[in-house]
This record gives sequence, structure tokens and C-alpha cells, in this order.
Amino acid sequence: MMTKKIILFLVISLGIISLVVSTGNSHNNSAPNFECIGCHQGEGSAEIKIDGLPEKYIPGKTYKITLTIVSDNQSLGDVAGGFAIEASAGDLMVTDRKNTQLSEGFLTHTKEGSAFRKWTFGWKAPVQKTEANLTVMAVAANGDYSPAGDVTGAGGFLIMPEK
Ligand code: HEC
Repeated sequence: MMTKKIILFLVISLGIISLVVSTGNSHNNSAPNFECIGCHQGEGSAEIKIDGLPEKYIPGKTYKITLTIVSDNQSLGDVAGGFAIEASAGDLMVTDRKNTQLSEGFLTHTKEGSAFRKWTFGWKAPVQKTEANLTVMAVAANGDYSPAGDVTGAGGFLIMPEK
């Protein structure tokens, strides 16, 4: 009787430990927090480009946005990059479930999405006419499954409502 309980206990705790270890290891499956540069600092340049944002938004309208990180940092592995974006107003929306997801209040890459340096998603403009700030952090990874040698880029985009 006793040994059965001990074995059961061991099985459960091993299960919990491996769960913790595997989520800890799969950070190319989303960004752990917004400040990529706290951990990813490499040599080279990285520039954030954003396409599809209007200069002035129509309240309540949804825009299709494409984000690209352009960098001279080559990836030699399966992972090429990652990103996180936050919006001060309006709603970020997943339009590509395979490669992007919402997590911890920002839109970020999935494991599949970390194979790229370009991602597409939606932004629904706020209904109230207020200014909106989109803040982006992105990593151009060298694909070695470590934060070493990855270049971080940052960008901020201010959008005003149309009159
Ligand atoms: C607290 C430290 C930390 C922060 C903050 C962080 N990362 Fe990472 N990142 C790591 C570690 C450690 C690894 C390697 C292990 C792993 O993938 O979990 C990694 C790996 C990666 C990789 C794969 C790198 C490669 O060369 O294979 C990508 C892509 C990535 N992170 C993107 C991001 C993005 C995008 C952000 C910010 C929005 C971010 N990370 C913020 C620690 C961090």
C-alpha cells in the first residue's frame, strides 16, 4: 500500500517538474516579458518596419498590419526571430493563429512563428477618438536557442484619429 502511494507521489511530482522545465525551455513559443533587450543583446542593426497602419485612423475600423524586423544578423538555425507588440488604445487581434498569439497582454510569436522575421495581425482602432501608441520590441535571432548574439530592435508608432 505504502509503496504504491510513494510511486504515485513520485509520478505526480516528476510530471510537475517536467512541466515547469518544458515551459521554461520553450520561450521561442512567446516572449516572457516585453523588455527583450534585457536578455537579447547582440552586435548589429535591427530596424522595425510596420505596414498597414493609417496615418489617421477611422474609429472602430480594423487594420491589417504587417510587422518586419530588418537586420544584418543572420540566422543559422530554425529560429529567426520573435516580437511583442502592445497597444495603448484599441485592440490587437490574432489573424494568423499558427504564427501569432496573445499572451500577458501583448501580441507575440508562437513557436512556429519564431521561424520568421515578419508577422501579420489586426489592430481594431478605438471607438473613442483618442491617440493610440503601438510599441514594438522584436528580436532578430541567430537561431542558436540562446539569447546570445540576437539583436533587439524597438519601435513606437503614434496614430491619431481622423477629424
Ligand atoms: C528574461 C530574459 C529574456 C527576455 C526578457 C526575453 N528573452 Fe528571448 N530568450 C531568452 C532565453 C534564455 C532564450 C533561450 C532559451 C529559450 O528559447 O527559452 C531566448 C530565446 C529567444 C529566441 C530564440 C533565439 C535563438 O537564437 O534561437 C527568440 C526568437 C526570442 N528569445 C525572442 C524574444 C523576444 C521577441 C523578446 C521580447 C519581446 C524576448 N525574447 C525577451 C531570454 C529572454
